[in-house]
Amino acid sequence: MAKRFERSEHSDRETELLEKAARLLPASARTPTMSLKAAMIVCEGRGSKLVDISGNEYIDYLLGSGPMFLGHAHPAVVAAAHEAALHGSSYLLPNEPSILLAEEIVAAVPCAERVVFASSGSDATFFALRLARAYRGRDKILKFEGGYHGQGDHVLMSNQWTREAPDYPQPSPNSEGIPQSIQGDVLVAPFNDIETTADILTRHRDELGAVIVEPMQRTIPPKNGFLAGLRTLTAENDIPLIFDEVVTGFRLAYGSAQEYYGVTPDLCALGKSISGGHPISVVCGRDEIMRYAEGVRRLTGDYVSLTGTFSGNPISCAVALAIVRELKQNGVYEALFARGRRLMQALEKHLGNAGVPVQVLGEPPAFQPWFSDHEIFDFRSSQGADAALGHRFAQLLLDRGILKAHEKFFVSMVHSDEDIDVTIDAIECEPERRRQRRGTEIGTTIQRQGCTHHRRRIRHGASDLHSPRGRGCAHSRH
Ligand SMILES: Cc1ncc(COP(=O)(O)O)c(C=O)c1O
Repeated sequence: MAKRFERSEHSDRETELLEKAARLLPASARTPTMSLKAAMIVCEGRGSKLVDISGNEYIDYLLGSGPMFLGHAHPAVVAAAHEAALHGSSYLLPNEPSILLAEEIVAAVPCAERVVFASSGSDATFFALRLARAYRGRDKILKFEGGYHGQGDHVLMSNQWTREAPDYPQPSPNSEGIPQSIQGDVLVAPFNDIETTADILTRHRDELGAVIVEPMQRTIPPKNGFLAGLRTLTAENDIPLIFDEVVTGFRLAYGSAQEYYGVTPDLCALGKSISGGHPISVVCGRDEIMRYAEGVRRLTGDYVSLTGTFSGNPISCAVALAIVRELKQNGVYEALFARGRRLMQALEKHLGNAGVPVQVLGEPPAFQPWFSDHEIFDFRSSQGADAALGHRFAQLLLDRGILKAHEKFFVSMVHSDEDIDVTIDAIECEPERRRQRRGTEIGTTIQRQGCTHHRRRIRHGASDLHSPRGRGCAHSRH
């Protein structure tokens, strides 16, 4: 029998801290679902669970936006961080963990011949683009509409938060403060549309320094032949192809999305999944391009600057090394995929049974139910999905003890079969109640008490997804 969850109200302390956060931290006062009702102050992460300071324990599918791939406070990660910290935290100079980690990355990731460390995913995509432009001697980049590559000025355009989509290949900035001149160096193509991409790329080939793509764009998988077509087009024109694997790296497979989808780029960016929540990211790729970062080139002029005070620091590298070694164990990806697939199938089934048009897109370690009855294959088709319903669904799950980003489920290596069962219970609760309401004894009990798993304050059901305000549990209305 699944454990019952009842989300308690914000404690006085949590309310006080939330108010302070709103006042003091304009960029960081985030909520998991973008709704104030979901706001929380986290006090602890343990395995697959996150605990807020009012004492609510959630099954965590947010995973810190992806880094906690091995779960929170994994013993191997804690031990590696502790041991490394005993020897100092940052030297700037090379250290053993960074070299051993580079060796593991080169062995695992198909495109990796050499490695440069940085601190965040944004750094890594920014560095990869700079390397590519230097190698190619051209300034423009081509990115895909809806793709997110972090906060660099060039890539913070036409991503998933774009409101107005101009004609291709015009970009649309996603932030104020990006110099106007940078827009002229960015071209935008539709994901999964190789013909339009080929047309743009061919017209602009002499100006292009790089093509950057998320191999699985957010949770939209590539169509058959799209990545291979991109590989052929860029190779024919000697334009470096960059896979942004900050999310997919070591997550879709040990060799990352490039192994999973069978297409090898020239460069790739890694980050979250090997970080265990520590500041580390990676640019890796072909020696011919990576060699521009060699320090001796400072003297000859053909040098690409990719340094950072914390790059390759021993704590982050020791942690990443421990993670990569855990991921190397036999059977870990098979188990992860089995659990993720079970949850994807349950979402499709139970939301479908509740009469909600849904497509569960992505791969078992990272996916999203998109509320739409039209096929979603790129940014523009995704705009037809009901985003408000997505937010309500995330809120409804939160009220049942399940934490997810409004845009994604991340499944970790430590989510247990029981976690998945409890999550499925939370999703199927309402259709079950409707069946029961048709006359069984249990139905009568539930009418009095609320859903067996989610009594008292947990009043929303899957059918409330149809209501703009969430009208409360069907039982509580009778
Ligand atoms: C695909 C992708 N690339 C890059 C980034 C930026 O990474 P970071 O937030 O570590 O700078 C993100 C972050 O969400 C991402 O999803």
